[in-house]
Amino acid sequence: MINLLNNIEEFKFNKIVVNDINSNIINFYKLLKEDYQYLKKQILIIEKEYNSLKDLNSKKEYYYKVREKFNHYDRKIKTVYFFFLMKTGFNGVYRENSKGKFNVPFGKKEYIKVDYDNLKNISNLIQNVEFYNLGYQDFFNILKEKEILDNSFIYCDPPYLPEDDIVNQKQELYTKDSFNHEQFVNLMSKLKHSKYIISMTDSKNANNIYGKLKKYKAGEFIRTINPKKSFKSTELIFSNYELNNDKE
Ligand SMILES: C[S@@+](CC[C@H](N)C(=O)[O-])C[C@H]1O[C@@H](n2cnc3c(N)ncnc32)[C@H](O)[C@@H]1O
Repeated sequence: MINLLNNIEEFKFNKIVVNDINSNIINFYKLLKEDYQYLKKQILIIEKEYNSLKDLNSKKEYYYKVREKFNHYDRKIKTVYFFFLMKTGFNGVYRENSKGKFNVPFGKKEYIKVDYDNLKNISNLIQNVEFYNLGYQDFFNILKEKEILDNSFIYCDPPYLPEDDIVNQKQELYTKDSFNHEQFVNLMSKLKHSKYIISMTDSKNANNIYGKLKKYKAGEFIRTINPKKSFKSTELIFSNYELNNDKE
């Protein structure tokens, strides 16, 4: 999204819509769009408090206190806690337990340094973006109602598909709800008038499920999936149309 917004003149989109089922991510972007001043003020407070704590133990205690509040609050400040947890939790990952509670451990960061210029830039960039917090099926229904599902460009970044021999763990890496990739690709394949791309880590499962689409290599990345495991992975792009050049 940010890459496209930075090159908006080139792409000439009439409308940009973004969706994720995770309300924390979407609430963060909505607040960044609608009330940057509030966000900045509150983040400054928490950043200062954290940085002024004398040792890692006190920082650890502070982190778990904020995590606890984050898991039980439902107010505007929750979004500030979310940002703080992304900055100080282990590797900035988001993961929930089976009860839907954020459960990422402390990331042992000595200091946090928030780039407010970058936040402000992104806030400016997203002023015309519409954010939705739905399951992708409901989101597609809305796009259909608004008559923007056809003749669109759709970028999808679904949850990672675990490959048993690489990552011996369950699929629910992000939220308590699992994601059915077969159902997803089925729905995508019904789109006849839109161009879409789907990013996915290279694996046997990914190739089985998405293999009917055109496939491109996007690069190699180190991916940290939980506090104990990271692995090198090739990131693929599956698309329903030919990509002609690097930029595309
Ligand atoms: C690989 S991550 C994408 C992260 C995002 N593109 C980014 O750059 O931060 C997969 C995302 O899919 C979302 N997700 C999982 N199930 C979903 C569903 N049924 N509908 C919509 N989004 C879903 C998760 O909340 C998660 O943010």
